[in-house]
Amino acid sequence: MSVVVENLYKFYGHQAAVNDVSFVVNRGEVVGFLGPNGAGKSTTMKILTCYIEQSKGSASICGIDTRTDSLAVRRKLGYLPEHNPLYKELYVREFLQICAKFYGISNIRNRINEVIEMTGLGLEQNKKIEQLSRGYRQRVGLSQAILHDPEVLILDEPTSGLDPNQIVEIRNLIKELGEAKTVIFSSHIMQEVEAICDRVLIIDRGKLVMDSPIGELSSKDNQEFVSVRVLFQSSVNADVLESIPGLVDKRKVKKGEWLIKGKKSSDEDFRQTVFQYCSGHGLVILEMNQLTTSMEQVFQELTGKSKQGNNK
Ligand SMILES: Nc1ncnc2c1ncn2[C@@H]1O[C@H](COP(=O)(O)OP(=O)(O)O)[C@@H](O)[C@H]1O
Ligand SMILES: [Mg+2]
Repeated sequence: MSVVVENLYKFYGHQAAVNDVSFVVNRGEVVGFLGPNGAGKSTTMKILTCYIEQSKGSASICGIDTRTDSLAVRRKLGYLPEHNPLYKELYVREFLQICAKFYGISNIRNRINEVIEMTGLGLEQNKKIEQLSRGYRQRVGLSQAILHDPEVLILDEPTSGLDPNQIVEIRNLIKELGEAKTVIFSSHIMQEVEAICDRVLIIDRGKLVMDSPIGELSSKDNQEFVSVRVLFQSSVNADVLESIPGLVDKRKVKKGEWLIKGKKSSDEDFRQTVFQYCSGHGLVILEMNQLTTSMEQVFQELTGKSKQGNNK
């Protein structure tokens, strides 16, 4: 296992910024660490990368405890900190040379060439970091993180502050890197995690509230209920819909279009129930689809940001 976190706590005064967090990341996994601002993502990552020490609990990288051998841990991991701090007055190659010396890399020139190729920095390699766009600065940050070919990459909000094109480029780069490495990256954007990760960890107010493979994400609501959007040929009276068997809620979207929520049943698909009921009452259905729970809904539900009046 690449990363093991057990009952981890970090207190700032009375505040538990990280509150009894445990998880395991296997070799080769790409895991999204998702949570609203202030949830404890950066704090957890700083502990994993030996920047700060935990108050209680343990963390290890490739079997090495972060408290007992922080140098050995740092050889195993690459870290892109939040806000990507760089020496902007240095040239790209110069900066990477300094980082390579820190890591004691033997064939520095070759390795820097390789990394520049991997991160697509070829055209920018002889510029000063301050002359680069944010997207390219992010590539420099990723370059220093992978320079010593670490097994584990820890990336703290690697796409924040980038424009939409740069976001796509950096996401693709992370995906590529994830083919050979274990990656944990944080984000507060659900779609991003959905696009890149195998698995998601959701943290809220210091607590881990979800640890699930992307494909198996489902909200509590989704386990019990099912929602369908139905488009009728003409407008429908609300009273008629009232007696659909298993109905829990109904909401008119616009003329002839309704969101209908029912209890999940193992015997019958709710869409079939709705169809049979409607055809029995002379209501012509033009279109019907079941709504799937989005990551966003799950996230909102778990982090207490759920708003009234969504389509559940
Ligand atoms: N050095 C610090 N001193 C006091 N409080 C801190 C410190 N660092 C972080 N915190 C607090 O810990 C909580 C978690 O912060 P952080 O891990 O940065 O969250 P995230 O990265 O998820 O946005 C926040 O409430 C933050 O204000
Ligand atoms: Mg943060």
